[in-house]
Amino acid sequence: MTLLNDIAATGGRNGGSGETLAIRGGRPLRGRVEVKGAKNLVTKAMVAALLGESPSILRDVPDISDVAVVRSLLEVHGVRVEDGDEPGSLRLDPSDAESAHMEEIDAHAGASRIPILFCGPLLHLLGEAFIPDLGGCRIGDRPIDFHLDALRKFGASVEKLPSGIRLSAPGGLVGANIHLPYPSVGATEQVLLTAVRAEGVTELRNAAIEPEIMDLIAVLQKMGAIISYEPNRVILIEGVSKLRGYDHRAIFDRNEAASWASAALATDGEIFVGGAKQQEMLTFLNIVRKVGGDFDIREDGILFSRGGTLRPVTVETDVHPGFMTDWQQPLIVALTQARGASIVHETVYENRFGFTDALVKMGANITVHPHGLQDGPRRVPRRNLEQAAVITGPTPLRGAEITVPDLRGGYSHVIAALTAEGQSTVHNVGIISRGYEKFFDKLTALGADFDVVG
Ligand code: EPZ
Repeated sequence: MTLLNDIAATGGRNGGSGETLAIRGGRPLRGRVEVKGAKNLVTKAMVAALLGESPSILRDVPDISDVAVVRSLLEVHGVRVEDGDEPGSLRLDPSDAESAHMEEIDAHAGASRIPILFCGPLLHLLGEAFIPDLGGCRIGDRPIDFHLDALRKFGASVEKLPSGIRLSAPGGLVGANIHLPYPSVGATEQVLLTAVRAEGVTELRNAAIEPEIMDLIAVLQKMGAIISYEPNRVILIEGVSKLRGYDHRAIFDRNEAASWASAALATDGEIFVGGAKQQEMLTFLNIVRKVGGDFDIREDGILFSRGGTLRPVTVETDVHPGFMTDWQQPLIVALTQARGASIVHETVYENRFGFTDALVKMGANITVHPHGLQDGPRRVPRRNLEQAAVITGPTPLRGAEITVPDLRGGYSHVIAALTAEGQSTVHNVGIISRGYEKFFDKLTALGADFDVVG
């Protein structure tokens, strides 16, 4: 949907389906882009609306396909979703919420992993929930065992079917003591969305504390929930019997902000990211500074540029407050232009460097170590699934024919093509509309030279 809007907005250039771009690189990106609400909060806050007894209003909702998927999933469950009282806002009315058929849910779930978060709210509302086999970016196994273990602790019974999972809790859900094996973002959200209306107190240990999770807690508190955030990743939730709708402006998308920042560094441009805020990006900004990039924090956003020659860095991805796994892909494009060897340790997912193959094809010097590097002590304890990439630069990039693998990897491919000399053909760019609003418009506003060719 977004992609179609983008094509219309760019004048339907070449009139293609928008899956393939011809990009002529080598020009710095300069200008201003605005970021709206975070994909990774907005989609969850939309699900939270199911828990209220009155309509909710969500503001700063980005026009991205992941939002469209959650919208249609809510609609098949009887939630009325309409435009709100200002542009970019949604009104979500759950008064007629009802069960949906597995096939219907499956048909609307697309490539999204969000359906798993419908479990708690649907169990409270209807006593049962169906979850189809989940999609999402192919960046590792991405299991849902933490989710299902937590739901069982709340008293749900879980039945695996050939097409997905059926859950039921005819007697209602009760508060639980849950200790996550890893501070998973999704599993923390699962517990929050389930515990707020479970009977009694839930204690969640080893919770994820990403800013988007804190914003979801703010949404739930507006709805009437009682949630306290204790030291050492402990969250206490006192269940309540009723929740009402909320009116909430979503936290900005720090992943998109970091992406445009890296694009400014990679192309030696200057990009003002409207709506970006310092607090949620402290860790990213430190790395920008270490790598020799420059930033100017203003009231309404942050201006990013190269301060001079880029320097190599060593980065470990981690849960918040660490360096996000979603930030490493665009940063790596910038690191191909840094003088020396950089190391990026990926500790969150086991298969998130596949996108670097295309960068190598374009001339980058990147070696991926699938089992990590056995070098000195690190801030993050090694996880078994860790892998590492060593990026040695600077290497000029040259145009190539490449295919986008996933959302963040795909963004990086486009930025690499814009950094490269000559023409690139980038296939499967449609996937980028899952998380980047008005992507083509923004590229055009920054002076990118490209055509939609198929
Ligand atoms: C969220 O995914 C984000 N997605 C991801 O954004 C982000 O990369 C990730 O959090 C980490 O910040 C959304 O919010 C929609 P996890 P999520 O559960 O919740 C393992 C993007 O590009 N795990 O924190 O699925 C898992 O395999 C993306 O916007 C289990 O083992 O991430 C991974 O190794 C993609 N069992 C680790 O935990 C489980 O039941 C972290 O995953 C759940 C997770």
